[in-house]
Amino acid sequence: MYRIAVVTCSTRSPRLNPFVTQSVYDLLGSDHTDATFALLDLAEQSLPLYDEPAVPSQLPRDDPTPHYTHEHTQKWSATAKQFDAFIFVTPQYNWSVPASLKNALDYLYHEWSGKPAAVVTYGVRGGGRAGGHLRQILMGLRMNVAPTAPELVIDKKSMERSMPLGKMSPEDAERWEAAGLGVELGKVLQEILELLKEGKKPEY
Ligand SMILES: Cc1cc2nc3c(=O)[nH]c(=O)nc-3n(C[C@H](O)[C@H](O)[C@H](O)COP(=O)(O)O)c2cc1C
Repeated sequence: MYRIAVVTCSTRSPRLNPFVTQSVYDLLGSDHTDATFALLDLAEQSLPLYDEPAVPSQLPRDDPTPHYTHEHTQKWSATAKQFDAFIFVTPQYNWSVPASLKNALDYLYHEWSGKPAAVVTYGVRGGGRAGGHLRQILMGLRMNVAPTAPELVIDKKSMERSMPLGKMSPEDAERWEAAGLGVELGKVLQEILELLKEGKKPEY
């Protein structure tokens, strides 16, 4: 069984990301013979802005965890190591990814490199610009990035209503499902499983 993390990437409060991640997680379903999914929330990792003295890619590849100087990094490393692949569900902040996501990615290297990653974005126009940046960052970490990258459009009026509550309405999730999100996520999962089974190193 491959373990796949479905990652909530924004950390402010209140926020909409947990709702979006949950919708993705629910649509991925639990009835798979070769994959299990787990929710992973960056807000629960309590990571300060990057504060390690070393460059993570220069630590020993086989076991970098004990070489981090801070407990929060060792914990984050041990958590990330448990997963074979990641689906990052992220909002767009000013045409890019939230700083919380870039920070959490920068902390580690060998825990990411060679593993498959997929990107799901959301925003008023679907968050595609954040998706483009994130794909570049993941490629820099030598992750195997899945080609299918669903973009979830949040209706502006619905967002204005939802943001102060930190809670979206079920209709938003129903609209995404009706627009084919379940089918797209099926493709994402297929791509991740193929990348896992091929076990090929990325060519960039
Ligand atoms: C700092 C900031 C920048 C944002 N920039 C964009 C943007 O460039 N494009 C967009 O569609 N929405 C943008 N938004 C709106 C977010 O998509 C919306 O607030 C969403 O709820 C953010 O996810 P979160 O609630 O989990 O933080 C921005 C929101 C914030 C807080």
